[in-house]
Amino acid sequence: MPVVNDRISVLSEDFAADPYRHFARLRERTPVHYEPAVDGYFLSRHRDVKRVLTDHEAFSTETLQVRAEPVMRGPVLAQMTGAEHTAKRKIVIRSFTGSALRDQVRAVHTNAAELLAPFLPRGRMDLVNDFGRPFAVQVTLDVLGLDRGDWRQLADWHGGVAEFITALTLTPERRRHCLDCAERLEAYLRPVIARRRRHPGEDLISKLCTAEFDGVAMSDREVTALVINVLAAATEPADKTLALLFKHLIDHPGQLAQVRRDPGLLPAAIAETLRHTPPVQLIPRRAERDAEFAGVTVPAGATVFCMIGAANRDPDAFTAPDTFDIHRPDLATARSFTAAAQHLSFGSGLHQCVGAAFTRAEIETVAALLLPLLDRVRFSPGFRYRETGLYTRGPVALPLDFTPRGG
Ligand code: HEM
Repeated sequence: MPVVNDRISVLSEDFAADPYRHFARLRERTPVHYEPAVDGYFLSRHRDVKRVLTDHEAFSTETLQVRAEPVMRGPVLAQMTGAEHTAKRKIVIRSFTGSALRDQVRAVHTNAAELLAPFLPRGRMDLVNDFGRPFAVQVTLDVLGLDRGDWRQLADWHGGVAEFITALTLTPERRRHCLDCAERLEAYLRPVIARRRRHPGEDLISKLCTAEFDGVAMSDREVTALVINVLAAATEPADKTLALLFKHLIDHPGQLAQVRRDPGLLPAAIAETLRHTPPVQLIPRRAERDAEFAGVTVPAGATVFCMIGAANRDPDAFTAPDTFDIHRPDLATARSFTAAAQHLSFGSGLHQCVGAAFTRAEIETVAALLLPLLDRVRFSPGFRYRETGLYTRGPVALPLDFTPRGG
């Protein structure tokens, strides 16, 4: 029998306003929370979430066939298994690590400096809307080899794609809108892919066009799906992480001062931000057979949602889990961006994020640039902090004041 906790609904306004307030009760009282309106089981304990993400036989990514494939215009990486998954994952990973990563860090720096310049003399900037969002989209477009000038249009279409994947409920009108965005994105990519096939460059689209899998090149549909996959996967969590990093540091002035003095602490601050407030809050899986958690049976065929935010705040996994502490010994920064991470913000197992090393480099580069420039950084007067999102979650805005520079 599904266990319904009448006192908590993940679809309630109260939960949406601050899910973190509810996590302890979920973990302790209903670690397998059934949500009737979604017909899904929400798991909140670290060990249960880790088990779901790493037991690939018992829990599959089949859910994505419905949740992602229609807007990715083809099967996405997370849906694949076996040799096909390994081969295609390698192609993407190669474009985000090693020497490719070093080139990208340069692009990250250039993009960030250009976007920041107009705000420095003003001494005021909304880190989410003025900077983070355009920055994350433009960096991803650079990596893919798409025209940065088209970023607003691409960001709009990408917004529709992301909404489709992350909405727990979707009206027919919104569904139509999201599918329309995906079709337009596909139409935009079609001639780009054709050009890259004729004249490949160093960008990721070219690499996907020229790569072979079992001696066979990828079809346009496969390349399109992987490009939309990367576009969707790389942008939203990155801008949210940057904003959350600054939010936590400003809320903890002692730790902000330490990071400003020693930028070598940035990776620890980024890892702790990811643990404390993961931008990807839910990871869905399908139970392939009956599975028992805390005495409750999740039936074969059911959708299971791993609650990453709740798992990362489980006292069985982290001491004083609700405290933001860049020096916490149980996080192990060096491991936090690898398969051995203790936090689950990049997932775990076969489908763990391929962009973890890139994310670390991207956020570290941009934060190291911002911190010395944003002297006496603080929230703008009258600002009231608000986060949104159940699936992906981050600040709506982060207006900052700082000492103006240059002119
Ligand atoms: C803060 C930044 C990021 C976070 C929190 C994040 C989070 C995640 C999570 C939780 C998953 C696992 C999904 C699952 O198991 O179903 C994932 C997978 C993935 N991520 Fe990220 N991601 C980030 C940045 C990036 C970037 C920069 C890229 C660029 C390539 C990327 C590309 C991907 C891809 C392609 C997958 C699917 C991997 C597979 O199925 O083999 N992500 N990410």
